[in-house]
Amino acid sequence: MRRPEAVPADAGAARRRPVHEAVALAAAISHDLQAPITRLRLRADLIADRGLREHIVADLERVAAMLQEQLDYVRSGHLREAPVPLDLAALVESVAEGLLDLGHRVEVQGSLRGRYRGALRALERVLQNLAVNAVVHGGGAAVMRMSEDDAAACILVLDEGPGIPPAMLEQVFEPFYRLEEARSGGGSGLGLAIARNLARAHGGEIRLSNRPGGGLQARLTVPQSRGRSA
Ligand SMILES: Nc1ncnc2c1ncn2[C@@H]1O[C@H](COP(=O)(O)OP(=O)(O)OP(=O)(O)O)[C@@H](O)[C@H]1O
Ligand SMILES: [Mg+2]
Repeated sequence: MRRPEAVPADAGAARRRPVHEAVALAAAISHDLQAPITRLRLRADLIADRGLREHIVADLERVAAMLQEQLDYVRSGHLREAPVPLDLAALVESVAEGLLDLGHRVEVQGSLRGRYRGALRALERVLQNLAVNAVVHGGGAAVMRMSEDDAAACILVLDEGPGIPPAMLEQVFEPFYRLEEARSGGGSGLGLAIARNLARAHGGEIRLSNRPGGGLQARLTVPQSRGRSA
């Protein structure tokens, strides 16, 4: 198997934190499968039977998305973009607007005044993964609530869904771990693992808890940049 360029780079991250060897192997396989899948996708356009063509293209796109997700997971242990000063509150608003555009009910509350630095696309991914979970697994409506103290921003992503059994609140962060299939809506089970890795790469954290009145609370903290060089 050809060694993809991304894997030796990620192998460093694997040494710094306990990434399971099987996941690193899955990433190498995912990387190598991307080129043949792209070729198959192009050749599928030549299939005359329209129904068959559409089925094959849809399946190939599903496989390609799964492979990309696996690569994203392995790469999420360290930032691939340089941290820049950013407007964290505007990022929260834009993630919410993106979901509103798709017809989901998302409300943004609160504001932030502190200074933040980070990898823009990575933090967007964190917020997106949490907000999508809230609307997909949490019954439809979500609130993204911002607050901060001297040290960090706190962004709560709240829903009114079934929540998560207390014994599973940490387990759902493990790669590929999902509660029962019917409730999980066909995702790959990597969203929370990716989000937590990226949050930690910013010096932040994600914690889940069940809300007293029902529903899940995801709590993302992002440290303020003051006094930090990154
Ligand atoms: N807001 C929520 N309410 C209830 N259950 C949740 C919520 N968020 C996550 N879960 C549970 O945790 C599991 C893991 O979430 P995770 O985001 O890692 O994967 P996923 O959403 O299934 O797939 P994807 O990789 O597309 O994100 C979900 O399958 C679901 O069972
Ligand atoms: Mg998810």
